[in-house]
Amino acid sequence: MYQKQDDYDEFGEETIMHTEYRPRRKKNRRPLLLCFCVVAVLLAIIIPVAVVTSNRRHGASGPSPECPSGDERERVDCYPEGGASLSRCEARGCCWDQPATQGPPSCFYPTNHGYELSGGLQRTPLGYMASLHRLNTPSAYGNDREIIEVEVEIQQDYRLHLKLSDPKHPGYEVPEAAVKRPLATTLAEHPLFNLTFTSKPFSIKVTRKSTGATIFDSSVGKLTLSAQFLSVSTRLASSNLYGLGEHVHRSYRHDLNWKTWPFFTRDSSPAAGDSANLYGQHPFYMCVEEDGSANGVFVLNSNAMDVTLQPGAPDSAPIVTYRVIGGVLDFYMFLGPSPENVVQQYTEVIGRPMMPAYWGLGFQLSKWFYKNSRGLREVILRTRATGIPYDVQYSDIDYMEDRKDFTYDGNNYGDLPDVIRDLHNNGQKYIVILDPAVSTQKRRDGSPYVPYEMGRSAGVFVNTSDGKTPIVGQVWPSDSVFPDFTNPSGVQWWADNCRDLHNNISFDGLWIDMNEPSNFLNGSLSGCATNTRNHPPYLPDIKGSLLYEGTLCMDAKQMWGDHYDVHSLYGHSMAIATRNAMRSILPSKRGVVLTRSSFAGTGQFASHWLGDNKAAWEDMAWSIPGILEFGLFGIPHVGADICGFGGNTTEELCQRWMQLGAFYPFSRNHNTMDGNPQDPAVFSQAMIDSTRDVMMTRYTLLPYLYTLFYHAHVTGATVVRPLLHEFPADRKTWDVDRQFLWGRGLLISPVLTQGDTQVDAYFPDDRWFDFFTGAEVEGQYRGQTVTLDAPLNKINVHVRGGTILPTQQPANTTVYSRRNPMGLVVALNDSDSAGASGSLFWDDGESYDSIEKSNFLQVTFTASASDGIRCTVDALPVPVPSPPHWALLPYDKVDVLGLDLPDVPTVKAGRPGDLRDVDSGNVQYDRDNKVLRLANLVDMNLWVYSDLQITWT
Ligand SMILES: *[C@@H]1O[C@H](CO)[C@@H](O)[C@H](O)[C@H]1NC(C)=O
Ligand SMILES: *[C@@H]1O[C@H](CO)[C@@H](O)[C@H](O)[C@H]1NC(C)=O
Ligand SMILES: *[C@@H]1O[C@H](CO)[C@@H](O)[C@H](O)[C@H]1NC(C)=O
Ligand SMILES: *[C@@H]1O[C@H](CO)[C@@H](O)[C@H](O)[C@H]1NC(C)=O
Ligand SMILES: *[C@@H]1O[C@H](CO)[C@@H](O)[C@H](O)[C@H]1NC(C)=O
Repeated sequence: MYQKQDDYDEFGEETIMHTEYRPRRKKNRRPLLLCFCVVAVLLAIIIPVAVVTSNRRHGASGPSPECPSGDERERVDCYPEGGASLSRCEARGCCWDQPATQGPPSCFYPTNHGYELSGGLQRTPLGYMASLHRLNTPSAYGNDREIIEVEVEIQQDYRLHLKLSDPKHPGYEVPEAAVKRPLATTLAEHPLFNLTFTSKPFSIKVTRKSTGATIFDSSVGKLTLSAQFLSVSTRLASSNLYGLGEHVHRSYRHDLNWKTWPFFTRDSSPAAGDSANLYGQHPFYMCVEEDGSANGVFVLNSNAMDVTLQPGAPDSAPIVTYRVIGGVLDFYMFLGPSPENVVQQYTEVIGRPMMPAYWGLGFQLSKWFYKNSRGLREVILRTRATGIPYDVQYSDIDYMEDRKDFTYDGNNYGDLPDVIRDLHNNGQKYIVILDPAVSTQKRRDGSPYVPYEMGRSAGVFVNTSDGKTPIVGQVWPSDSVFPDFTNPSGVQWWADNCRDLHNNISFDGLWIDMNEPSNFLNGSLSGCATNTRNHPPYLPDIKGSLLYEGTLCMDAKQMWGDHYDVHSLYGHSMAIATRNAMRSILPSKRGVVLTRSSFAGTGQFASHWLGDNKAAWEDMAWSIPGILEFGLFGIPHVGADICGFGGNTTEELCQRWMQLGAFYPFSRNHNTMDGNPQDPAVFSQAMIDSTRDVMMTRYTLLPYLYTLFYHAHVTGATVVRPLLHEFPADRKTWDVDRQFLWGRGLLISPVLTQGDTQVDAYFPDDRWFDFFTGAEVEGQYRGQTVTLDAPLNKINVHVRGGTILPTQQPANTTVYSRRNPMGLVVALNDSDSAGASGSLFWDDGESYDSIEKSNFLQVTFTASASDGIRCTVDALPVPVPSPPHWALLPYDKVDVLGLDLPDVPTVKAGRPGDLRDVDSGNVQYDRDNKVLRLANLVDMNLWVYSDLQITWT
């Protein structure tokens, strides 16, 4: 049945059984060297004996349901809105049977539901096309699509695109301006997958060619496409499922025991720890197969949806069901095969993450309500006095006049420009908040509020369903309108106003909040009309009982479409507009755009924090799955509010959280208005000291972190990385979410529980060294969980053998640390020949186009116990030959871990062929820990921009 096809025209006859094959065009005669196969299986129709009484309003009755009698865990819910009864269930043509266990539905789909292939599969330049006819079954939600089109594109060996839509009633499609997916033009020749089509009911199965693992199999669930309800179920390869957001997931690996996750951007706090839909919409998951290969599936759809996870029968595999209330079913599948490959392949479609400004990796401090600029200054001064590295200060909405965007409060913050000047004079940066909601009221002095007036006349606000009157809600400034960031004049208006604000207060970055968009009213001042946009026939399992709860009416009008379709793109479009504004204000600087709401691809434009968490130990622990997930979603510059946003923190919690937060890619301490101050300076000297130490460690490691961001930007590699990405075949890593890696080589094992002074850390099978002492972890630890000491002032950090980390002497800000000498931490691995490796990406830290213009330095490091260290410059910044000031950096410190030598060695260093002795006073060998430490190398002029060698004998 499976056979290689050499000729296009014979393809169908050979492999598609019982269906007619019509070649699309005769001229497609070129030989096809495809190894995947197409099989169509025609199932017999069992003629119904009884006719189900159906809901005539929604369509004709169909044949009687053929009810599956197998394991009830295989049932796909036919009444997901709740309230099913025997008669309601039968009216839908579904099967009714009370389950014996908790979880399975009592009303579930029959096997004879869905669509059937009509007219056969047609070849297209990129794959297949087919028409499907709806099987005659009652309609559940009305407006069923009778004829739909399936499009399958084999876009890359590792990427399949599958689209199900009704050509006569094209559903909403996420515009290219929001997600610019790559154009596929040629058929991939050696796909990693096989395809199987079944004709009745129609289904498609995608399996991994090498192992047969299921990537996608729609035969489990019953395909439904109607105007406002589109559903498909598919089977997973395993129960190792990750991603799908934004929610609080208490564990990184999903619980598949009948969980429904709603998707619809919403201003809802993660602190509750429930299954509510949160700020972002990322319908993407990664599944790790039984052999450690990974696949990913993304549905490109901006409508509200549910994703239900259920276990499936024990001898089968878990099932995932999508229920979307609009748009098209537009799937991208990624075959990996490694977890890192999957993320790279996903961000290739949605867009690679931006390169952050170097200072954006520094420590940041924020609080809602410093009261006035005196309060703000106090915090700045006392934090500086602690000596804790500190790059960025924020202002929340209290800097504004009456919470109006683009203003600052002349009474309380009259000298804000001076505060900012002082920050800049000390090497620090300043970020202000902006919300989308624009006040409709006059200024305090009775003058017109110009941004609103300008916006009104330019027609930039989201309109009511009449398409011309701005919709009015209530947010922080009370009555407010909402910019339409999908309207080019809205984007322009936003940039103009940001520039005006910047002329008064010269911020370095913008923090955009409340952009789900959040509204303190449901819909608008005057509520929302009763129609199928505002009240769709099926409401996903979102927070609240109305689709427009806490946001705008769904029939509101935006340029990209009705709010119903584009709601979850609001924050994304605002991030794009804000990035554009920053670029127009500071054309040569990357700045920072920090957004609460996000969609697939937002990582190209903005950073993200995990929203309004609370000062609680569990919230700290949940932040790790959160940052790991945003790594999957292509938004690696992410962190949670350190010490917790809501509630009052304790010193112990804040100390532990500062330790963990020192390893968030985005590291900011922020708290709420009525929370006691929690900037580190308010705590005991011991807490301040340990916070300074851990932040110094962060700053020491920033060259490594920055290099990871470069790789993320260029290749899509993850920055913060779950252990399973590096050790996918080690099943124990699949559940690790209380530890994480930076890149491939640095393992962070924080304390996440009150009172603990030890931590259990898992060490996959490799060499691991304590970052602080350089000592190898003791005993038979490989592949084991080890209990490590973790007194209150310590976080455990380990370096993996085989890794070389570029470091730099820390300072109070990145402006100053970037001028300091560099260093290397070389962790040798087991095999002398393979040695260790690493790299450095270095540029001026803020130009937009340093990568485009090749104005950067790139160095590759290799090392082994016998050959020493080599630094090879791969790319030099322009202009050559004289390096720019930011590249004039010498190495000062080099540590080699895991080096077994009989005695203190003689060390030489310099350009290859020109090695000089390192003064023996600067060579230290710790025989117990097997660590070689070289210090004070600055005098030897070992510059980062030249090829170097260090040897020991
Ligand atoms: C995939 O198809 C090829 C033929 O093209 C076949 O040899 C192979 O066994 C199939 N793999 C699986 C897992 O079914
Ligand atoms: C910004 O500066 C301009 C010009 O000095 C002034 O007219 C305007 O009121 C200022 N805006 C705020 C919010 O203070
Ligand atoms: C950092 O140190 C430099 C001098 O080393 C000093 O000029 C600057 O004011 C300091 N900045 C902060 C934020 O402490
Ligand atoms: C909203 O209304 C304004 C007029 O007030 C109009 O200029 C603009 O194009 C409208 N936008 C949309 C998306 O309807
Ligand atoms: C924090 O504690 C203060 C008293 O120290 C109290 O007034 C305030 O309400 C508390 N805030 C929260 C959010 O619990």
